[in-house]
Amino acid sequence: MIQYSGKQVLVTGGAGFIGSHLVDALVGEQPAGICVVDNLFLGREENLEDARGSFPELAFHRLDATDGPALRALIRRHRIEIVFNLATKALGHSFADPLDAFHVNVVIAGHLLEALRSGEIAGLVHFSSSEAYGTALRTPMDESHPLRPNTAYAAGKAAADLMIRAYQESFGIRVLTLRPFNNFGPRQNEGVYAGVVPLTMNRILRGEPPVISGSGAQTRDFTFVRDTALLAVELGKHDELHGAVVNLGSGREVAIRDLVEKICRISRYTGEVRTAPPRPGDVLRHCADVSVLRQVLGEVSLSSLEQGLAETWEWYRAHH
Ligand SMILES: NC(=O)c1ccc[n+]([C@@H]2O[C@H](COP(=O)([O-])OP(=O)(O)OC[C@H]3O[C@@H](n4cnc5c(N)ncnc54)[C@H](O)[C@@H]3O)[C@@H](O)[C@H]2O)c1
Repeated sequence: MIQYSGKQVLVTGGAGFIGSHLVDALVGEQPAGICVVDNLFLGREENLEDARGSFPELAFHRLDATDGPALRALIRRHRIEIVFNLATKALGHSFADPLDAFHVNVVIAGHLLEALRSGEIAGLVHFSSSEAYGTALRTPMDESHPLRPNTAYAAGKAAADLMIRAYQESFGIRVLTLRPFNNFGPRQNEGVYAGVVPLTMNRILRGEPPVISGSGAQTRDFTFVRDTALLAVELGKHDELHGAVVNLGSGREVAIRDLVEKICRISRYTGEVRTAPPRPGDVLRHCADVSVLRQVLGEVSLSSLEQGLAETWEWYRAHH
C-alpha cells in the first residue's frame, strides 16, 4: 500500500471544487507537505481555508500548469513524490475556446507523465472524466466503454487517457486514472460554466425559476464531492491500481428533471420550472459501473443524493 504520511503531495487544480475537497481529505493522511498549483481560472484561494486551518504548512502556488518547466521546477524544489492532477478548464470553456479546453487537458497530463518518466515523482493519480465516454452505448458504463467524446474538453480528457496508456506501454510507468462521474456539493463553481446543481440552487435563491435544458430526461450519475475526494485518496493508496482506469461514481442514474424536482423539494420551491433548448454536446445518458471500485474498496457507503443535496443547499444558502 502507498502511504501519504511523511510524503510531499502536489494537487494541480487544488483550489477548485473537487481539488479543494481532495486537499481536505489529504490533510487527514498527515503528509509531510501539501502543495497546491492553480492558476485561479475558476478556483479560489478561499476554498483552501478549511485545510489551512488544520494544516498551516499547505503551500499555494498561482501557476499555469501548462508551463512545463515552471511546473517541474516546483516539483523538484518541493521534492514532490505524489501528484493528483485535477487542473482543467470547465467543460463549458469548450464552446468559448475549444482548442484551449483540449490543450489544457492534454498538456498538463503530458508534463506530469514526463516528470514520472524521469523519476522526478514516484506516483501520479490522474483525474479523467466520464465525459470521455460520451453518451452511454450501454449502461452501466464500465471502464472498457468506448471513448466517444462530444466536446473539446472531453476529447482532451480522452486524449490524455490514451497518452497515459501509451506512456505506460512504452516506458513501463504506472498511473492511476480515475474517471469521476458528475459531482456536486459545497464550493462548486456558481459563476460562468456553473453545473446544474449550483445553477438551480442559485436561481431559486435569487427568486428566479429553475431551468431545465432539453427534455430533462438526460441522466447523470451524481456523487457527493466529499465522497469522491475520500475515495480518490483511498484508491490512490492501492499500488496494484496504478496502471489501471477506475470509474468513480455512485452507480445511481438520475434524470435531470428528477434532480431539479429534488432540489425544489429541499428548498421548498413550489413555483414554475422553465425549459430551455438542449445544450450542444450534452451527453444523453450516464451511469457508472462501479464494480472495480467495489472490488477494491468493498461496499463503500456513499451519501444519499438527498443528504448531499440538503447539505449543498445549506451551503449555497449560507453563502448567498
Ligand atoms: N465536477 C465534476 O462533476 C467532474 C466530473 C468528472 C471529472 N471531473 C474532473 O475532476 C477535476 C476537477 O474538476 P472540478 O469540477 O473540481 O473543476 P474546477 O474547475 O472546480 O477545478 C479545476 C481547477 O483547475 C484550475 N486550472 C485550470 N486551468 C489550469 C491551469 N492551466 N493551471 C493550473 N490550474 C488550472 C482551475 O482554476 C480550477 O481551480 C477535473 O480534472 C475534471 O475534469 C470533474
